[in-house]
Order: sequence, then structure tokens, then C-alpha cells
Amino acid sequence: MPREPMIAPSLLSADFARLGEEARRVADADWLHFDVMDGHFVPNLTFGLPVMAAVQAVSPVPLDCHLMIEEPGRWAPGYAEAGARNVTVHAEACTDPRAVARDIRAAGALAGLAIKPGTPLEGYRDVLRDFDTLLVMSVEPGFGGQSFIPDVLDKVRTARRLVDAGELTLIVEIDGGINADTIEQAAEAGVDMFVAGSAVYGADDPGKAIAALRDRAAAAMRG
Ligand code: DX5
Ligand code: ZN
Repeated sequence: MPREPMIAPSLLSADFARLGEEARRVADADWLHFDVMDGHFVPNLTFGLPVMAAVQAVSPVPLDCHLMIEEPGRWAPGYAEAGARNVTVHAEACTDPRAVARDIRAAGALAGLAIKPGTPLEGYRDVLRDFDTLLVMSVEPGFGGQSFIPDVLDKVRTARRLVDAGELTLIVEIDGGINADTIEQAAEAGVDMFVAGSAVYGADDPGKAIAALRDRAAAAMRG
């Protein structure tokens, strides 16, 4: 079965004074990516649970919460309870990722594990059996608008092989520097879900930008 690309615009590149309207501008997306940063795990601070719940209430698209925070086990289930479709925590911030996945799932969301560009996949192969999503970071987490790091695609290829072989059941997601120039190589490597911040919200027409990204990824997946 050919895979279908899925697109998750990142609200990090939206106009923060108009978050509800910005969510409604990307109604054609699959997920709306919501970057939570705590100023400790990453050197930037964004928004948290009350803002997520407010966006969730008006968003036409399910929320994909990417928690770039310390102590994710303490906060992640709250995002699931507030109605997020997927809640992703960073492997580097978790002492017991399996317990966090269990709590996220028990609260009603899919559980995601994110790895920074320098974090190998190897140590997490077993742990990933308890997750629904693998988020491969293709920039250092913290800021939108950075350049794509192609080296991370080896991890995507490995994850794709494990999923296609039936060893893992995961949505393979990529985040950072995805645009019309980089999405094809990510699609060829095996990504299912493409996060795009500046490439969608920096465009005059975010809906058209989503469609263009989707077309390029689909063409690359067909080979
Ligand atoms: C970065 C965030 C990304 C960011 C991507 O730490 O996790 O989701 O919004 O932005 P672009 O697509 O502009 O690289
Ligand atoms: Zn993100």
C-alpha cells in the first residue's frame, strides 16, 4: 500500500496575537503542531496548557503537541486530557519514557517520542514499542526557520525499515526545516508526517502551501 503524506503546520510560525484564526487557516492539514517550550530544555519559551486548550477548542484540525520541556511526565497527560490527538515528549528529557507513554495513552492521546539531531535511535528501539509516533528532529529544537539537517535521514530510514518489517508500529514524523526544497528527500527516506512552520505560515496562502508540500511528498513517495 502506498503511503500518503500527512502535513502538520507548526503554530510556532503563526501570528501569536491571532492563534484561533491562524488555526482555522490550515483546515486542510492533518494535524496542527503545537510547540511547547519551557526555557529550560530549550533556550526559548512559548505557550503551555491553557493556550493549548483554547486553541484546541476552535481548531478544525487535531492538535499534535511537541513538548520541549523538562519533566515531561509531569505535564504530558494534561495535554492528552485537554484533547490533543498526539503528545510527544523528548527522549533526552525522560527518565522513564515507557511510563510517560503509558500515562499519555491512558489519558486518551497517541504517545510520541522525539529525538534531537544528535540522539541515536539505537537505544530506543525497544522503548518505541510503547509509542505511536517517532518525531525525528531535523533542526536543534528551540526555534523555527532553521536549516534542515540531512544527516538525520539515516534515522528515518532505519525507523521506516523497522515499521515496514512489522517490528514497530509508528507514525514517522519529521520536524525542522521542511519546505518545498527539502520535503522530497524526507519523503523518500520514509517520513509519514511532515511538520512545517515557516514554509506554511510564511506563505501568502497557507492552504496552497500545504497542498504544494503534500504534492511534492506524494510524488517522492511514489518514486
Ligand atoms: C522547533 C520546532 C518546530 C518548528 C519548525 O524547535 O519544534 O516545530 O516550528 O519550524 P520550521 O518548519 O520553520 O523549521
Ligand atoms: Zn516541533
